[in-house]
Amino acid sequence: MRIRAAVLEEFGQPLAVQEVDLAEPKAGEALVRLVACGVCHTDLYTASGADPSGYAPTVLGHEGAGIVERVGPGVTSVAPGDQVVTLFSPQCRECVHCLSDRTNLCLAIREQQNQGFLPDGTTRLSRDGEPIRHFMGTSAFGEATVLPEIAVARVPASAPPDVVCTLACGATTGIGAALYVAKVEPRSTCAVFGTGLVGLGAVAGCRLAGAERIICIDLSERRLEIARAQGATDTFVGGEDAVERVLELTDGFGADYTFEATGNVAVMRQAVEAAARRAATACRSSPGSTSTACSTSRPSSRTTARSTG
Ligand SMILES: NC(=O)c1ccc[n+]([C@@H]2O[C@H](COP(=O)([O-])OP(=O)(O)OC[C@H]3O[C@@H](n4cnc5c(N)ncnc54)[C@H](O)[C@@H]3O)[C@@H](O)[C@H]2O)c1
Ligand SMILES: [Zn+2]
Ligand SMILES: [Zn+2]
Repeated sequence: MRIRAAVLEEFGQPLAVQEVDLAEPKAGEALVRLVACGVCHTDLYTASGADPSGYAPTVLGHEGAGIVERVGPGVTSVAPGDQVVTLFSPQCRECVHCLSDRTNLCLAIREQQNQGFLPDGTTRLSRDGEPIRHFMGTSAFGEATVLPEIAVARVPASAPPDVVCTLACGATTGIGAALYVAKVEPRSTCAVFGTGLVGLGAVAGCRLAGAERIICIDLSERRLEIARAQGATDTFVGGEDAVERVLELTDGFGADYTFEATGNVAVMRQAVEAAARRAATACRSSPGSTSTACSTSRPSSRTTARSTG
């Protein structure tokens, strides 16, 4: 079938909206008619050319929500008509990572996906017979896409697609960092640097964990306003004095948990320096990666942990 898609032709150039061919789903695959898709900073990072693992031409987009239109042979977990979100990190529920409670970075189709292919090593996207690779296994900046069955998650039909698509990456990355990686404790003080979708997810996670104070720092007043609606208790516009301002707001101690969600190395440093010296955890988003790294300082030890976003 012919679909319209926004194709990354060349790094650093605007995406080109055009018609491309999408082949039918093969065994174990589903064709999803996309309804909504978020724009994650990682899409921009890859489009810029800074991502060493990036490739072009490709169809970007990995925060998709849509309706399953057709399925290939053997598909049992979804059926035509189901509303789903796209999963750049699939869930086979069988591999060592899926069975671990320390990570969910499924290994089942990783090698092919990282190179822009579906599990059988080919693409369903093409143009004039030339294959176009699938970005993050999802390629959701198009009218439809084909994904492996393990890379779609069913969501309730009543969920608004433009909201539920945010669960495909940014919101869950932040929520997961707060709840499962940092394991924020009730009554603690948290600081979130950057309140795009990942940061807002961290705010929501801190709130769900029962944090008493959630300090948010961003360059945009509009984003800070959204953060307050998500539960931020203190907000201010970031800059070189951000660490001092967090220290001032915490009686000189720093926050128990800090989250960096800007992708900016200087801000990662601020997030570490704004963490309480006594026993704090600092988490940072990795641009373009699918993991969140945390450093935990304890009076007598220092550990690092990695988990999925
Ligand atoms: N680890 C993962 O799984 C994962 C998943 C998604 C995104 N990411 C990465 O997380 C980062 C955030 O992604 P996003 O989609 O939320 O991005 P975004 O662009 O929507 O949000 C970033 C926010 O940071 C703010 N910001 C920029 N410079 C700042 C500064 N100096 N001080 C304070 N705030 C500043 C911006 O105003 C913006 O609101 C990106 O680097 C992205 O690549 C990682
Ligand atoms: Zn993302
Ligand atoms: Zn798996």
